[in-house]
Amino acid sequence: EMKLRLVLQCALISIASSNVGRFWQITDLHLDFHYDRLETDTKKVCPSTYGFEALEPGVWGDYKCDSTWKLINSSIHAMRDIEANPDFILWTGDDTLHTTDEDRFLGEAKVVETIKNITDLIQQVFPQTKVFSALGNHDYQPKNNMPPGPSEILTEIAQIWRPWMTEDAFQLFNITGYYADDTTGNSLLKVIVLNTNLWDNYNDHISGEGDPSGQFSWLRSQLEGARRSGKKVYIIGHISPGFFELYENEFYLHENYISNYIAIVQEYYDVISGQFFAHNHMDSYRMFYNKDKQPISVLFLAPGVTPRVGTREGSVNPGIRLFQYNRTNMQIKNYDQYYFNLAAANKHPIEAEWTLEYSSSTGFEISDLSPTSMHLLLERMKKADLGCDPTTHGCENNRLFQRYVRFHSVSYDYSSCNDTCHRNHICAIQDVDVALHGRCI
Ligand SMILES: *[C@@H]1O[C@H](CO)[C@@H](O)[C@H](O)[C@H]1NC(C)=O
Ligand SMILES: *[C@@H]1O[C@H](CO)[C@@H](O)[C@H](O)[C@H]1NC(C)=O
Ligand SMILES: *[C@@H]1O[C@H](CO)[C@@H](O)[C@H](O)[C@H]1NC(C)=O
Ligand SMILES: *[C@@H]1O[C@H](CO)[C@@H](O)[C@H](O)[C@H]1NC(C)=O
Ligand SMILES: *[C@@H]1O[C@H](CO)[C@@H](O)[C@H](O)[C@H]1NC(C)=O
Ligand SMILES: [Zn+2]
Ligand SMILES: [Zn+2]
Repeated sequence: EMKLRLVLQCALISIASSNVGRFWQITDLHLDFHYDRLETDTKKVCPSTYGFEALEPGVWGDYKCDSTWKLINSSIHAMRDIEANPDFILWTGDDTLHTTDEDRFLGEAKVVETIKNITDLIQQVFPQTKVFSALGNHDYQPKNNMPPGPSEILTEIAQIWRPWMTEDAFQLFNITGYYADDTTGNSLLKVIVLNTNLWDNYNDHISGEGDPSGQFSWLRSQLEGARRSGKKVYIIGHISPGFFELYENEFYLHENYISNYIAIVQEYYDVISGQFFAHNHMDSYRMFYNKDKQPISVLFLAPGVTPRVGTREGSVNPGIRLFQYNRTNMQIKNYDQYYFNLAAANKHPIEAEWTLEYSSSTGFEISDLSPTSMHLLLERMKKADLGCDPTTHGCENNRLFQRYVRFHSVSYDYSSCNDTCHRNHICAIQDVDVALHGRCI
């Protein structure tokens, strides 16, 4: 009987674990192909410092510069070493370097070439894997200014990514930059890839009025279709609605587009099982609530591969993220955040490696990544007593919050977060809506 029970138990465990799928998210690779660590003028090591000084240029890169090719190559190979057979890969945009002089250091041809080279790399390392790829604000020249409708760069990118798309998805993407795809390897899952350039408030072609390229009405009809056919949806995009906690009052999408997006999540939260965005280069998340203030959806913000965040403030270690989800109901269970300690790697270039930074379950002391769990995490962080020494008993909420803040920079910044910093973090997570965020602040 013991033996039989053991066999049954093993069978049950294997059924349960086969229902857990994994997928990667990789983002903000920002290749700086001008990087030259041997340049003696530290202001000229890379154009991505915007003329400020590089910090400690090494063979793998510098905290104020965008990614070296060596780093990007290493990130994609690390993904294969850690999980070579993910169900799919989400790639959420921004491939070119930051520069104040795009004509000199970038140009249309280099934008396309950068995207082509990174796509080739991913296809070589993951030849069998489905990749869903979203456009970032740096996947155009000039940056942020992708027009709605067809453009030469969009046409070229569509050709480059065509092998990953269905014919329908390709035809739509080729003229709008967005698409949806049911061929996820799971008949119950659809992935919707947004083009957030169409809502970007730094885009001179976008006034904030109307529905550029009809993306909102298309999004609604996709969600409606998913609901009718009993499917769940993962939404991916580059720029997220809401605020960036590193700065005061900083947000990147038009205010009324943020409102539209929130209204759609409130209407279709039952089919939206996850939202995966990027752009800030820092590790965080955003909550969505219904009119009764119940948590209904979570948007995850993955940190990038580039160590660069802003010109002066902020840097991060490079990161890649592996999600675990329930293949039956598409709920997100956990993620493992891997990182590359750039300072250590530059000191010991040969031994450099990608290691686990944290798992969301143990790092945040939560059992899954449901809206309820992520809301409870927020509530605990809100109650953090910042004066309380995190190493002592009774300071659990502050310990949790200060750990969250360290993860926010991918374990680059170990300084503690004061009242202003705490407020900016909490309000950014809690309120995506512009007016509500203002009230929170
Ligand atoms: C890319 O990474 C692989 C695996 O570490 C390595 O064998 C290869 O030499 C690297 N290529 C470049 C150009 O860095
Ligand atoms: C793309 O790859 C080719 C072949 O390795 C290389 O010559 C070229 O410089 C790369 N382009 C960029 C923008 O890095
Ligand atoms: C992609 O869109 C461009 C611009 O509208 C068009 O010229 C081209 O024919 C389209 N490509 C395909 C393969 O349909
Ligand atoms: C996945 O979801 C199904 C359906 O809701 C549930 O029965 C199962 O226990 C879940 N599995 C895991 C590993 O969470
Ligand atoms: C918090 O820290 C920031 C950055 O170090 C500083 O500018 C700000 O004045 C501090 N705020 C408070 C309330 O101490
Ligand atoms: Zn970016
Ligand atoms: Zn961006």
